[in-house]
Amino acid sequence: MGNTPILELCNTGSGSRLLLKMDCLNPTGSVKVRMALEMIVAAEISGELKPGGRIIEPTSGNTGLGLAFVASQRGYKFTAIVDHHAAKDKLRSMQALGAELVFVGDKESCVPSTSLRRAKAAEIVAETSDAWWPDQHNNPNNPAGYWQLAYELDEQIPEKVDVLVAAIGTGGTLCGTTEHLRKLGHTAESLAVEPEGSIIFGGVPGAYKQSGAGAPSGFKIGNNVRYDLIDHGVKVSDVKAFAAARVLAREHGLMVGGTAGA
Ligand SMILES: Cc1ncc(COP(=O)(O)O)c(C=O)c1O
Repeated sequence: MGNTPILELCNTGSGSRLLLKMDCLNPTGSVKVRMALEMIVAAEISGELKPGGRIIEPTSGNTGLGLAFVASQRGYKFTAIVDHHAAKDKLRSMQALGAELVFVGDKESCVPSTSLRRAKAAEIVAETSDAWWPDQHNNPNNPAGYWQLAYELDEQIPEKVDVLVAAIGTGGTLCGTTEHLRKLGHTAESLAVEPEGSIIFGGVPGAYKQSGAGAPSGFKIGNNVRYDLIDHGVKVSDVKAFAAARVLAREHGLMVGGTAGA
């Protein structure tokens, strides 16, 4: 896990470079395996997660893949609470890693059933004796899980990071990496990208298909969206996000998803 390479996507010829941190090359294909390991190890140390216990988390896929993988390596069971908005390949991959999937919400919905997923998780946790719910929206070990990513960027980018751009959902990736990068002496202005229709930075709520990022209307934003660490919030439409993902596929052979495109 980690030590993923950097790809220079383009440069201006005058010293500015646009770099991609290739965390899709981690086990499970996503950055989220970093925070999954951090949250699980912290819960083992605190005693919240018992040997052989069951991890239960609402997820749209990437956190679920990380949790499923770390759970299978360390001898835990994992139940993912999912909805039909999630990407099908993520759902199938979680099953391949041994996760149990519990579905909530409407099959045709173009909005994630984030609140319903949390309600279902609370219900199952209450009924299960050996359950532990990491709660990625509020668990401080989600952002803490990105310290190693910041150290890698520090080594890989000696001229320092001026602007850090990431899609935002729980806030863990962007806020955790920004906080650690700044401790390492980078200016690192932070730019959070959410789907058009998501309400993390206000605006008109609506449907979107960039699963994993954003928050739908009515969702209570968790503690890991640290507005004090975010300099800019930008909304990107599905069309632009998926078009950019296809450019990355066709020009670089990178099979990234909508939020990476955004
Ligand atoms: C595909 C995808 N992109 C972006 C995000 C947002 O990351 P974060 O929750 O760290 O803000 C997630 C979160 O699960 C995700 O699954």
